[in-house]
Amino acid sequence: VILGNRSLSPFIDWDYGIALQTILLGLTEKGLGACAIASFHQEKVRECVFAAPEFEIAAVVAIGKPIETVIIEDMKDNEVRYWRDAHGRHHVPKRSQEQLIYRLYSK
Ligand SMILES: Cc1cc2nc3c(=O)[nH]c(=O)nc-3n(C[C@H](O)[C@H](O)[C@H](O)COP(=O)(O)O)c2cc1C
Repeated sequence: VILGNRSLSPFIDWDYGIALQTILLGLTEKGLGACAIASFHQEKVRECVFAAPEFEIAAVVAIGKPIETVIIEDMKDNEVRYWRDAHGRHHVPKRSQEQLIYRLYSK
């Protein structure tokens, strides 16, 4: 659970992003699977982690041992929907590096 005290920094949203990304990359590096979750019940999670009132809850990260085989597919027509094939493999469309990185000077 990622917590923060907004009164301490106007840049807290940047910090949340950096923390979340770092946690996800670190877990992946260790061979674990992780899923960022922003849709959760604030007060129930607050109770679970005994968070003091000055803290807001930014995100929850579900961590587990991956059991699925994930196959990254090139995204077509901005379609983000994933699918599973007959063997239960999880096909996940992603934008290519070429699409993501804006190049100032063409090659
Ligand atoms: C900040 C953030 C919040 C997210 N919140 C949710 C969520 O509340 N519920 C959900 O089903 N997926 C949520 N997702 C999407 C999943 O964490 C995950 O990114 C998605 O299932 C795609 O998996 P992949 O990134 O491993 O390809 C969120 C992603 C991000 C980056």
